[in-house]
Amino acid sequence: MRPSPSTDNRGRASLGGFIEPTTGASKGLPQIGRNGFFLVTPKIGTRARTRDIMQRVSVNKATPGMVLEDDVRDQKGRFLFKAGQSITDKHIRIFKIWGVTEIWTENEQSGKEEAAREDASIPEETLDRAEDLVRESFRDNSLEDPFIGELYRICVERTAQSLHNDWILPAEDKTRSGKGDAPETPPRAEPRNITIPGLVSDRLKLATLPNIYYKTLEAVHDPSMSLADIADIVSTDPSLSAKILQLVNSSFYSLLKKVDTLTRALALIGTNHLMTIVTGVSVMSIFKKSSSTILSMNEFWQHSIGCGIIARMLASYVPGVVNSERYFVAGLLHDIGRLIMVQNAPRQMQSVFHIAEREDLPLFEAEKRHLGFDHTEVGEYLAHKWNLPLSLKKMIRYHHEPELGSREMDPEIIYVANFLTTALRCGSSGEDKIPSFNSGAWMDLSLSPSVLEPVVIQLNHQLKETFELIYGHH
Ligand SMILES: [Fe+2]
Ligand SMILES: [Fe+2]
Repeated sequence: MRPSPSTDNRGRASLGGFIEPTTGASKGLPQIGRNGFFLVTPKIGTRARTRDIMQRVSVNKATPGMVLEDDVRDQKGRFLFKAGQSITDKHIRIFKIWGVTEIWTENEQSGKEEAAREDASIPEETLDRAEDLVRESFRDNSLEDPFIGELYRICVERTAQSLHNDWILPAEDKTRSGKGDAPETPPRAEPRNITIPGLVSDRLKLATLPNIYYKTLEAVHDPSMSLADIADIVSTDPSLSAKILQLVNSSFYSLLKKVDTLTRALALIGTNHLMTIVTGVSVMSIFKKSSSTILSMNEFWQHSIGCGIIARMLASYVPGVVNSERYFVAGLLHDIGRLIMVQNAPRQMQSVFHIAEREDLPLFEAEKRHLGFDHTEVGEYLAHKWNLPLSLKKMIRYHHEPELGSREMDPEIIYVANFLTTALRCGSSGEDKIPSFNSGAWMDLSLSPSVLEPVVIQLNHQLKETFELIYGHH
């Protein structure tokens, strides 16, 4: 049974579907959504036509007027478009958005006269419905703003596709978090005794990252160490070594050749990338077994990893930014304070969720109001305990309020990445509200709104694989 998409459990409109129907959820399998994890695998054996009258075409080279000679489906066999369809620019855009890389077409282009026809694959009423939902979510923002306007367009398209495919919208999956079960009146949860050091040291073994992290860091900073020496140190941790090789060979790096030795991997990706992976894997080794009754861990890590991927991509477009790798780690860790809070102060956080809902506040504002501090401060404190670099601490601390961080570019990149991740409904760290966008951050980065589409395409392309490698199957 599937509820009809409308508003979320706070009465707010919700956006495009990233949550699979709940099969597998009970087993703890990653609930990564269907958006963008598709690769079209032509089913040669089932083809009715012969190869000589068909051609395989890269989506990048597809042109309006080509006729699909095979159904386009996702990896799981989910139908996207049927054979015989004459494609338009809109189809091509949708292929790219959904990560489709190749299509089968007739050898000779035909049906050009049909190309001008409006795309009939998504009914008009579904598009209208998607627009209503997205407009409501963007109510605190002006669509006149070029960045917001472009993001709005992308969100409408994704939401329409989700609705069209009858996917469950995130907020309709009531198993997603316990927020929907919040009582009418806030539970009695006195914030008085909660302190940041208390939260961080309480129960969780957060004092240090695993030894291998510090050993690798030291080796990377030691000019006398060769890549082979560093590889030797990393290889003392076999599971870390295996993870590095898997990631290097994944869509996260998209290298042309397969790499099978650690030294070669390091030579290709460099030590900055190495530290990204080692930090990510080390952090996950601490938090992997975390659980919460009020926040879905799958959703949380999907949000965090998604934010990291977006931040890394965005940074690569920002003039003058070097080493865009570190933005991945910053995205991965930006909401780590929230995770600690929901784990160690669940009752107080239930109250925070309630306040945010009642007063229509961003969650971090509700945290401040109820506890006197927010998750960015908890995250910063943890980063300090771990001796993480200052720039990383700033990115964690100011990811909601970059103006407090002297408008430096680093926090602004994470601010924008987090805004995008939230608006695109890529996982959730508990925050459903799309706040009013601080356009100053975007302007400071000297970015054009046209970078949004390629960034989102890359998110689609990398999220599932990166999520599985870093978070794994639980
Ligand atoms: Fe946050
Ligand atoms: Fe976030």
